[in-house]
Amino acid sequence: MTASKARYAHIFDRAAADHYVEPSWVSQRLFEVERFAGTIADPACGWGRILASAQAAGYPVLGLDLVDRGAAERVPGLTFQQADFLRDPIVLPHPCAIICNPPFDQVESFALKALELAHQVAMIMPVRRLPAARWLQATPLRWIYFLTPRPSMPPGGHIEAGGRIGGGTQDYAWLLWDTRSIGEPGVRWLMRRRSRRDMGERPITSVRSRLPRSSRSRNISMIQSLALYLANRTRVRFRQR
Ligand SMILES: C[S@@+](CC[C@H](N)C(=O)[O-])C[C@H]1O[C@@H](n2cnc3c(N)ncnc32)[C@H](O)[C@@H]1O
Repeated sequence: MTASKARYAHIFDRAAADHYVEPSWVSQRLFEVERFAGTIADPACGWGRILASAQAAGYPVLGLDLVDRGAAERVPGLTFQQADFLRDPIVLPHPCAIICNPPFDQVESFALKALELAHQVAMIMPVRRLPAARWLQATPLRWIYFLTPRPSMPPGGHIEAGGRIGGGTQDYAWLLWDTRSIGEPGVRWLMRRRSRRDMGERPITSVRSRLPRSSRSRNISMIQSLALYLANRTRVRFRQR
């Protein structure tokens, strides 16, 4: 264990209920490239970073979490409910989209429950867990967005203690489901900085559908993309989730 990790050992403890905090660009960029209907609900909202991005993008927002981490104070206008998303009865406004960064050992349970409650669902997942996630095959997965550069997701306590942020060593992706979609999931990359393509008037989805067939066939396959990402995996600084 490094000196810095030993110093922060208490906040790296899993007992902090998996409060690993993604950088805001991860959700800001998602709302720039995807459109959702109705309220954005985050059932594992923590500090409310995803909901702050959703609100800035013009959506009404609702947050739930097992632990009240002060999201309502951090995101004025946010409605917060303390609840166990997996066990408590959950009532959400209609329509709504469920978007969150769930505890990574519970992505399947979170996703399956969310898909019972909403048509559109998006969740962050470590890329290294994708190959073993065979349960995804039975879901209406629409897109995998690889996040680049690697986002650093330290524990909230580490951030509050003024710990260094950056140098992420794990790859993450947004998984997007749409219960009304048909066909195989596709792969995209979501960069921290907006690309020229993002800044076009049309969202990426319609731009792609306008490409000639010959260009579409050049899209790298999902398997190839996964292989590339897994090949690039390096050492892990924060304890793996
Ligand atoms: C990865 S963090 C989310 C970080 C968040 N995006 C933020 O801005 O702070 C996961 C969150 O899920 C919450 N959580 C864990 N199990 C839960 C459950 N069964 N129901 C609701 N929330 C849960 C944790 O308390 C934690 O705040």
